[in-house]
Amino acid sequence: MSRILVIHGPNLNLLGQRDPKVYGRMTLAEIDKQLHQAAEQAGSDLQTFQSNHEGAIIDAIQQAAEWAGGLLINPGAYTHNSYAIRDAIAGVALPAVKVHLSNIHARELFRHRSVIAPVCIGQVVGFGWHSYLLGLRALLDYLTEHQESISRKTDDNADR
Ligand code: DQA
Repeated sequence: MSRILVIHGPNLNLLGQRDPKVYGRMTLAEIDKQLHQAAEQAGSDLQTFQSNHEGAIIDAIQQAAEWAGGLLINPGAYTHNSYAIRDAIAGVALPAVKVHLSNIHARELFRHRSVIAPVCIGQVVGFGWHSYLLGLRALLDYLTEHQESISRKTDDNADR
């Protein structure tokens, strides 16, 4: 069974009231509910976490290494400048998918740069709250495929 940690970064607790033209009207609790439902349907186990603090996000990533198979993360504004979150993801070596509600590449210049993207297996941007669902689907498919190839390799080695 795939176990996923979803991390929401700073200011995402304000979804629903924060700049709805850009981020939509769904609250974070509503997005989490959708994610839990999708995970349940896929037979996977999902936990969600939000923090406005860089260190707390890093702690959550490090702890996830003990139980999770993958990370789904919207780092919020830390996307653009947090080398510490980037190092944490690289350090735990868990497959991570990065998501953004808005299309960061169609916004202010400072949002075009993501220091987190290079340590992720992929990213989904610009589809509002659907970015989370699409990202979860991609992560679960990736984990299934890689689990299969790990099992195949183990079987091959056992045959030798
Ligand atoms: C965001 C994009 C970031 O640039 C911004 O700071 C956010 C939200 C998004 O989901 O579109 O907080 O990560």
